[in-house]
Amino acid sequence: MPTVTIQPSGKTYEAAVGSTILAAIMAAGESILHKCEGKGECGSCHVFVQEGRKTISKIQRAENEKLDTIPGVGSKSRLACQALLGEENITVELLGFGSGM
Ligand code: FES
Repeated sequence: MPTVTIQPSGKTYEAAVGSTILAAIMAAGESILHKCEGKGECGSCHVFVQEGRKTISKIQRAENEKLDTIPGVGSKSRLACQALLGEENITVELLGFGSGM
């Protein structure tokens, strides 16, 4: 099972392959906005994937289009509700409340 390390707290959580980054973050007890409940429509769950980008699911068109509307996105940006965990460990950075608004 991949380990998700969550920054800036440094908390870690072991999650199942194929589960979303959002689910892992919430299961670890971290706070993250998810206003559309994981439908990929609101952009509030925007995170930076600092390590392990190759192991998570590829970005799909709808996610890409949503990310394009969010200020401050970069090459490490993902919507936590749309990115699925692969076999390898990852590190994600939470951007604080309202970052994806
Ligand atoms: S929870 Fe709305 S885009 Fe992820």
